[in-house]
Parts: sequence; C-alpha cells; structure tokens
Amino acid sequence: MTKAVILGTGSFLPDRILTNAELEQMVETSDEWIRTRTGIGARHIAGSHEPLYKVAAQAGKRALDAAGLAPEDVDLLILATVSPHMIMPSTACFVQAELGTVNAFAYDISAACAGFLFGVDMASKYIAAQPDMKVLVIGAENLSTRINWQDRNTCVLFGDGAGAAVLSGAEGERGILDSRLYTDGRLWHLLYTEGPPSMNKDLQLPGWKGPFIQMNGAELFKNAVRLMEGAVKKLLAAHHLTISDIDLMLPHQANIRIINNLRERLAVPEDKVFINLDRCGNTSSASIPIAMDEVAREGRLHPGDLVLMCTFGAGLAWGALLLRW
Ligand code: ACO
Repeated sequence: MTKAVILGTGSFLPDRILTNAELEQMVETSDEWIRTRTGIGARHIAGSHEPLYKVAAQAGKRALDAAGLAPEDVDLLILATVSPHMIMPSTACFVQAELGTVNAFAYDISAACAGFLFGVDMASKYIAAQPDMKVLVIGAENLSTRINWQDRNTCVLFGDGAGAAVLSGAEGERGILDSRLYTDGRLWHLLYTEGPPSMNKDLQLPGWKGPFIQMNGAELFKNAVRLMEGAVKKLLAAHHLTISDIDLMLPHQANIRIINNLRERLAVPEDKVFINLDRCGNTSSASIPIAMDEVAREGRLHPGDLVLMCTFGAGLAWGALLLRW
C-alpha cells in the first residue's frame, strides 16, 4: 500500500541563546524555579535579521538537501505556525519566495503546538491521492515576538526555531501509518494570543490585553496529560499495538513534568523518550520536527523503527501520529 514517507528532515535554531540566568535579570524568577517546574535551561531567540519566514526557510532548505531535492521539485508547501510574519499574505508564501519553491502552492495552517502533526496528516492525505507529490511540511515559530517579557508566567517557557520534513509516496512498510487529531474549541481560553484591536470600533473586544500569549498553565497541564494519553491509547489500539512496540517517542516539548507524567501513565521507558526541552524550550509547532531532525541526524532512528509522536496546544488542539521510519 502507498504511504507518505519522509524523504528528509531539517531544522534551524537561531544563534542567540537566552539563558535562565538572563531571565533572572528580567523578571522575578530563578534558574532553579524554571528548571524544576519546566525542565527548561535555555531557549533560542530570533534576531532582527531572522523574521519567521527566514527561520522556516532555513529548516526547509536543510530538509530538501537531506532529501536530495531541489526547491523546484516541491509541489506543496504547508507551514504550521501561530506566530506568522504578517496577517496577510500567508508566511508560507514568503517561505516559498525565500526558498524558490516556484512550482508549489503554499499555505499556512494554525493548530499551535499540534500544527506540525496536522500538517503531516494533511500531506499524507494529498499523497494518498497523488503519490508522486512532494510535500514540504514546516513547523516554525518566533514566539519571542508574541511574549510579554514582563510576564514571568509565560516568558520563561517559549523559544524560537523551525523544523521540517519532505514527504512523498512509496510502496512498502515505511511511512506515516496513521494519526489521530482532535480539537476542543470550548477550551480556547486556556491559551490564546489576541491580534491587534479591530479597526471597526463596534467589533473591538473589551479588555484587550495586548498581542501577547495569555495562559492558564495549571489547567493546560492537566488537560495536556489526559488528552495526549487518550490520543496515544486510541491510536495504538486501532493498530493492535502496545507501548512495547514503540522504538522512540517524540512528545511535544512543553514541560518536562507533562512529559514524565505522560510517560509514566503510558509506561514508556525513559530511554525511549527524546527530550531537547532543556536546550530549546517550547517552540510550539516547531518542537516535534526539530526533535525528529535531531534524532535522525544523531543516528538514533533505524529503518523500520516505530516512532510515536504526540502533541498538545492552544485550541485546544492535540493528537498522536505513528510513523514507520
Ligand atoms: N518564576 C517564579 N515563579 C513563578 C514563575 C516563574 N517564572 N511563573 C509562575 N510563578 C509562580 C506563580 O505566580 C505562582 O505563584 P503564587 O503561588 O504566589 O500565585 C507559583 O509560581 C506557582 O504557580 P503554578 O502555576 O502553580 O506553577 P506550576 O507548578 O503549575 O507551573 C507552569 C507553572 C510551568 C506554567 C505549568 O503549569 C505548565 O507548564 N503548564 C503547561 C503550560 C504549557 O504547556 N503551555 C504551553 C502549551 S503548548 C502550546 O500550545 C504553545
């Protein structure tokens, strides 16, 4: 049966690293608090020369190079982001221009931290209909541009970066096996970023808090563990698989305590879970593709390995995906 296989991966992290020690100078916090409550030690922050489309394009270029493809070979470019370069046009179109993927059509999707899995799911469905299609899926965020740097509840958590994968159809066992995606818009208020106020005064929202991330961390924490656990269990059960069949788990990198809670509930051994949260913080839609690229380049993935990805974020949007590497 034809499946969408990953031909190459890439990632990009801006050079500038913001440490917990620097954050101690900016808000009332401590390295000890941040590490014990979140597992984060540092995060990368984009500079003025690194607008989102450039960060995304760097990751996309590395994925194309790894796949041995030219930009002109790409038929579709999907960019997952919640920190777009502009409201209009899509950041995907800026990435297209930057990369030179002139034969592709390009668009953005918005599913916060779940964005990359939503993008890969979409790509695999295009590929099922047209197996020779080459789809570049990028998860990219400059969340540093959406943070209130005086708000210690959020400013310690997020980082910038991008990850990407090129997919196309192939016969055989390898590829995207399945994914389970969910949203619950009733819980939107747990994590959101308002845009600029409406130019129509009649439609302005009361009590505008600025274009910054607003978060109810404790409620998100509980939902994250519960919902990812449910998504993973349903996905495995649908394929008559158990956790012992999984070779590597790539969870969304939001908080080490969320990951450990989930790992314990699912009984996943610690050495089967990849963590880069300590170096990257929460990069939202970029978190899973950055992790995937890092494990691929470290040689931790072998042909035939079963990889489980699971994610959770604003929307609420969440899901799980199974990939035979
Ligand atoms: N430094 C020091 N103290 C802090 C900081 C900080 N950076 N941030 C919050 N605190 C304080 C709080 O003000 C609170 O003080 P109070 O008791 O005097 O009111 C105290 O620490 C405890 O706060 P809690 O919210 O109970 O801390 P908790 O242990 O829940 O950890 C955290 C907070 C890290 C935010 C956690 O709830 C979490 O990670 N939640 C999930 C968040 C998340 O994953 N968000 C992203 C989702 S993914 C996406 O879509 C982008």
